[in-house]
Amino acid sequence: MKAYRAALLRFDEHQHPLYDADGLLVIGPDAHGRQVVRAAGTHADLAGRFPGVAVEDLRGLLIAPGFVDLHVHYPQTDVIGAPAAGLLPWLEHYTFPHESRFADKAYARGVADFFFDELARHGVTTALTFATSHPTSVDAAFEAAQARGLRFITGKVLQDRHSPDGVRDDTEQSLIDTEALIRRWHGVDRLGYAITPRFAPTSTSAQLHGAGELAARYTDVWIQSHVAENRDEVKWAAELFPASRSYLGVYDDFGLLRRRAVYAHCIHLDDGDRRLMAESGTAAAISPTSNLFLGSGFFDYQAADAAGMGYGLASDVGGGTSFSPFHTMLAAYYVGREGHTKPGLSLTPAQLWWQHTAGAARALDLEGVVGNLQPGCEADFVVLNPKATPLLERKTAQAENLDELLFALIVLGDDRLVARTVIGGR
Ligand code: GUN
Ligand code: ZN
Repeated sequence: MKAYRAALLRFDEHQHPLYDADGLLVIGPDAHGRQVVRAAGTHADLAGRFPGVAVEDLRGLLIAPGFVDLHVHYPQTDVIGAPAAGLLPWLEHYTFPHESRFADKAYARGVADFFFDELARHGVTTALTFATSHPTSVDAAFEAAQARGLRFITGKVLQDRHSPDGVRDDTEQSLIDTEALIRRWHGVDRLGYAITPRFAPTSTSAQLHGAGELAARYTDVWIQSHVAENRDEVKWAAELFPASRSYLGVYDDFGLLRRRAVYAHCIHLDDGDRRLMAESGTAAAISPTSNLFLGSGFFDYQAADAAGMGYGLASDVGGGTSFSPFHTMLAAYYVGREGHTKPGLSLTPAQLWWQHTAGAARALDLEGVVGNLQPGCEADFVVLNPKATPLLERKTAQAENLDELLFALIVLGDDRLVARTVIGGR
C-alpha cells in the first residue's frame, strides 16, 4: 500500500465534487492484484487508519481522477490542424490518405507510442479510440497500451464503400477480422474492444448488419461511431438510407444502439433521436474543439439533459485541435454557453470536469472503475501543479472557493499543469 497527501478532488454518485484541501489517497492491490483506491478523504480522518503505510507528501499539489477521452483517433495524431471547408472534404483530402499508411504495422506502432506518451503528458489515462480499417493498426495500439498497463478501448474501422483504395475494406473480411480481434484482445489485461463502423455513409447495409450481429453476440464489447456531426453528412445519410426515420435511426435499425455504444458529435439530432439515445443507453461523445474547428455546430446540452441522454467529453483529435482536457473543457464551456447568439446554459467548472472524468466513465459503462477516486476505483490519477505558470500561481492563490479554483485551472491550464500521471498505481 501507498498513500499520497495532497489536495484531493473526486465526485459523488450525484455528480457533485468532493474536495479535501488536505486530503489523503490510499492505494493498494485488490483481490485480483490490481492497484485500486483503498481510501480517500481528509488526512485528519484517514492518517490514523493506515499506520505504517508510506505517505508521499505532495502538499501544494492537487490529485484528481485521470481524464477519460471519450472519442479520439490515434491515427489522426498527425492530421491535427488540417484545414478544410467542412467534414467531408477534410476526410477526402487529409484523413483518408493519411490513414492508408496504417497498413504498415511498424509505422502504426510508432504513432501509437507517440499518442500514448502525449495522452500521459496531458493527464489522460483512458481513451475510447478509433484505429484505422487495417487490423494491424489495432494490434499496434493494443500492444502499446498493454505495455503501459492502460485501460484502453479501440477497434478496427469498418468502411466498405465511399472510401478510397487504401482504406476501403471488404465486407465479409472486415467482419471476420473484427471477430478475430475481439477474441484476441477484449478483456485481456485492461483492454477492451469496440466495434467501429466509421459512420453510416461509408458502410453498406450488409456491413452494418454484420456489425449489429457481432454487437448482439458480444454484449460487453463496446460500439463506437459518428452521427449527426455536419449538415452535408446528415443529408447524405438520409439519401443513402431513405427507409430509416433519421440518421441515428440507421444505427438503431441495425442493432447498434445499446449500453456501451458511444456516438461522437450528436449535434443535428431531433428530440426523437435524443429519446432513443436515452432509452437505449447510448451515450454521446461531445467533441467541442473539433466541432468548432470543422465548423460542424454546437452540441445542445439543454436538449440532451431534457431527454436524459448520457454524455462525456472528447478531444476527437485530429478533427479536434488538442489532446488537453483543459482545452476541451474550456471549448465545451464556450459551446454550451447561453448568450445573445444561441440558446444554451452556463456549465459550472465541476460539471465540465465531471464530463471529462466520472461522466465519461459512466458513458462507457465504467462508473466506479475509472474516472473517479472513490474506494474501489482503479488507481489512475493526475497530480496537478496549480503554480505551474506565473499566471496560474497568481490566479489560483486568489480562488476563494472550489468553483473559482477549478475555473482557473480549466481556463489557464494545459500540459504544464500536469506534474505527474499515475497509471495503475505507477
Ligand atoms: N466522420 C467519419 N469519419 C470521421 C472522422 O475521422 N472524424 C470526424 N470528426 N468525423 C468523422
Ligand atoms: Zn471522430
